[in-house]
Amino acid sequence: MKYRPFGRTGWQVSEISFGAWAIGGSWGQVSEADAIDALHAAIDHGVNFIDTADVYGDGRSERLISQVLKDRSEEIVVVTKAGRRLDPHVAAGYNRQNLTAFVERSLKNLGVSTLDLVQLHCPPTEVYYMPETFGVLDELVKDGKIRYYGVSVEKVEEAIKAIEYPNVQSVQIIFNIFRQRPADLFFDLAKQKQVAILARVPLASGLLTGKMTRKTTFPQDDHRNFNRYGESFDVGETFSGVDFETGLDAAERIQAILPLGATMAQFALRWILMFDAVSCAIPGAKNRRQAVDNAMASDLPPLSDETMAQIRAIYDEIIRPQVHQRW
Ligand SMILES: NC(=O)c1ccc[n+]([C@@H]2O[C@H](COP(=O)([O-])OP(=O)(O)OC[C@H]3O[C@@H](n4cnc5c(N)ncnc54)[C@H](OP(=O)(O)O)[C@@H]3O)[C@@H](O)[C@H]2O)c1
Repeated sequence: MKYRPFGRTGWQVSEISFGAWAIGGSWGQVSEADAIDALHAAIDHGVNFIDTADVYGDGRSERLISQVLKDRSEEIVVVTKAGRRLDPHVAAGYNRQNLTAFVERSLKNLGVSTLDLVQLHCPPTEVYYMPETFGVLDELVKDGKIRYYGVSVEKVEEAIKAIEYPNVQSVQIIFNIFRQRPADLFFDLAKQKQVAILARVPLASGLLTGKMTRKTTFPQDDHRNFNRYGESFDVGETFSGVDFETGLDAAERIQAILPLGATMAQFALRWILMFDAVSCAIPGAKNRRQAVDNAMASDLPPLSDETMAQIRAIYDEIIRPQVHQRW
């Protein structure tokens, strides 16, 4: 595993880290045993950074992480998110009272006295124009409740606005072979300000693992079933907003240029690591096999210019028309 600096925090984080949404919920059933095994396997392979949220399985993800970390001696950074417990999910809810309550709940779930880093969880765009919200986060830092804070955004424009706030340490954004716009517009700006970037949904919800076909179906309680058209939350979070069949066509083309000895998941992750502005990719994993497969992407050699150009061509031709100007 290789490590990268995480913005201005002084942390060196595993370039392949762990996304803990699926072990919480919304991805079909994941047993507690599998979830715990996946986390241990990731840490065994050098992962030292875990991304979660208070709403993943209504706290299940945070609690499972806490349980696993009690049995580990390594220093592991756990970053969580706040805001999505709001119902309705509106900008005005991002106030002192609510954010404090969300942070207190995550402290309890994670069994710690200070949260390493809290991210605003894809708030309405308006929140980026509410300095008072960032003031509340500054106070939570001062009070010792959180060490650092960052944002998780839907849109590149939100990311650009968010890093105007000097204490925003990190931006989490969808970045993968199917979502390339952040590299065009945002990465240089983040680098100039030494803001960490977390590349989320790195496998396009599994489409970029190459294992799916036109016959693949998903359980009722899997967002790839219930949010395929954005029925529950932003459609960009499911298959990166790419129509399933289009994604399969692109995945087939990518499969044809796969280097020998790499799984397609590893290849998709290695593509992300070609961008030095990225601090870490945070693939989700539901079991040991996936966690190990993903962690080992860090061992792959860099992709050639030719391969990068081939990927860009597939994106431009098949994917770009559907997603490029939407996020
Ligand atoms: N709004 C936000 O802030 C937000 C939104 C989304 C995600 N995130 C964060 O980003 C993380 C990653 O995104 P994601 O989990 O949505 O999507 P992802 O990482 O693109 O896809 C994860 C899924 O792909 C499959 N998979 C993973 N590794 C595999 C492998 N090696 N081989 C085959 N299949 C594999 C698993 O599902 P199956 O086995 O069922 O196919 C897994 O749940 C999340 O866990 C979360 O921490 C944040």
